[in-house]
Order: sequence, then structure tokens, then C-alpha cells
Amino acid sequence: MSFSVLLLRLHLLVLLAFLLFYATKAALLFLGRQEDLRNLRARTRIVDSLLGLLILGSGLWLVALYPGDAPRWLWVELGLAVVLLPLAIAAMRRQYKPGIACMLLGLLYLYGVAQAGSLTLQRPSRRVAGTAALGRPETTPTPDAAPPVDTLFDDEPGLSEAETAALQAATANAAIASPPAEPETDGEGILADGKALFNKNCAVCHGANGRLGLNGAHDLSKSNLNTTGRVYMVTQGLGKMPAFKDKLTTAQIQQVVAYSLTLK
Ligand code: HEC
Repeated sequence: MSFSVLLLRLHLLVLLAFLLFYATKAALLFLGRQEDLRNLRARTRIVDSLLGLLILGSGLWLVALYPGDAPRWLWVELGLAVVLLPLAIAAMRRQYKPGIACMLLGLLYLYGVAQAGSLTLQRPSRRVAGTAALGRPETTPTPDAAPPVDTLFDDEPGLSEAETAALQAATANAAIASPPAEPETDGEGILADGKALFNKNCAVCHGANGRLGLNGAHDLSKSNLNTTGRVYMVTQGLGKMPAFKDKLTTAQIQQVVAYSLTLK
């Protein structure tokens, strides 16, 4: 587990602790149990402030750690925390009931933002791992070196074992049936089919020559991804690249991939 994930957990935990502690005191106040409330506050005088500081501290630290720009929800959450925490503490000191009720709702919302946002913060690392796995064949100079098929499939939680096996078999066949180094030997027919399929399904983003790069599409003429990697990309999709497994047959995917390899 990375440090930033640990910090995020801590941040959420302190936030939850603050919320529960605050709710307990609010409950005592609203139930009219002044005696209990006074006892609790006497014993835990600085807990509110301490938790508040921890929330802000861990939040700021997260912003500092987050590679690149911190996500918007984190700023929203921190901004809310800066406003809400002191108000909540002040309302509790004055025992101002409407204020406490509002603050309780506000804090709940704050926790919701943080909880929901934390899910998106953990997602990019998965995405990066996926690209890294796919990127590996690109760094291999030999176009047909054994691709890390297993790591590719590990990243795909929706894939059953049977599907994985089928896809692996299909990609293995593709590598044997149509060596991408000399796709012309398969005859002009298959390439013509592949070209038609490419113009129909891929050219919108990649352009007829593979270089258009719309929607963040990669330049196919510069791609070093081999047959297996491309078949996988086209079958499963990645990020903004759509999956074609329901649109094209395995044979069609092989044809379009074979054609895409001729775009240099
Ligand atoms: C909606 C736009 C879109 C369409 C349609 C599309 N692609 Fe892509 N393609 C992308 C994007 C975006 C990426 C980059 C994906 C990433 O790495 O996040 C990509 C990446 C690729 C790559 C990997 C290139 C590399 O080296 O990283 C291949 C190969 C590819 N596409 C082939 C195809 C083929 C073949 C088709 C048609 C069957 C197709 N694409 C249709 C958007 C598209």
C-alpha cells in the first residue's frame, strides 16, 4: 500500500472520528442530558480541535503528495473542512442547537465528499498499471516477442477464466496465422477487408492513415504494439479506446489489426 493511500485512509478515519464524536455530543445536547455532556466535554476538552487539525493536516498533506494537480473533490473537501470545522466547534461551545444541527448535516456531506472522492483517487493507479502493462511490448524492439498476456488479463476484473483462455488461444492463433512482420503474405484480400473494417470502425479517431489522434487516440503509425497487444486493445478497449468484442468477430479483429500494422 502506498503512503498516499495510507494517508487517505487516516484522513477518512479522523473525519469519521470527528463526525461520530460530534454526533454523540449533539445527541446528548438534544436529549437534554446536560450533565453527561458537561462530563464528556470536561474530559475531552481538546479532542475536537485536535481531530480538526488532524483532518486539515492530513488533507493538506494529501494535496501536496498528489502527483500533478490534486483532484477537484479534494479542494472542495478541504475548503468545506476549513469553514465547517471551526463553525461546528464554535456552535458546540455555545450549545447553539440550530447551528449544531446544520453543522452535523454539513459534516455528513463533507464525509460523503471525501468517501466518494477517495474512490476516484485510488482509481488512476489502476489505470496507470494497465497502460504500463500494455506499454511493455512497445519498449521491446522485436515486434513479436512474447507479450505479457498474463499481466494484461490480470488487470481486467470483468474477464472470466474461460474468456481469458479463449482470448489467449485466439491471440496465440493470430500470432501464428498472421505474422505481423509480413502481413502481405496473407493475400491482398484479407488486408482489403481489414482496410474496410478500419475505415468503418477506427478511422473516426485514428484517421485513415492512423495518425489523426482524435479523442486522445494514439498514433498507430508510431505504435510498437505487436499483434497480440493490438488484438487485446481492440477486443477489450482501454480508457477512451472502445472495446470491439461485441462489434467485431475475432477474425475481423485480426484482419483490422493486421491492416493497422501496415500503417507505417
Ligand atoms: C473513440 C475513439 C477510438 C476508436 C473508434 C478506436 N480507437 Fe484505438 N485508441 C483510442 C484511444 C483514445 C487510444 C489510447 C488508449 C490509451 O492508451 O489510453 C487508442 C489506442 C489504440 C491502440 C494502441 C496504440 C498504442 O501503441 O498505444 C491501437 C493498436 C488501437 N487503438 C487500434 C484501434 C483499432 C484497430 C480500432 C478500430 C477497430 C480503434 N483503435 C478504434 C481511440 C479509439
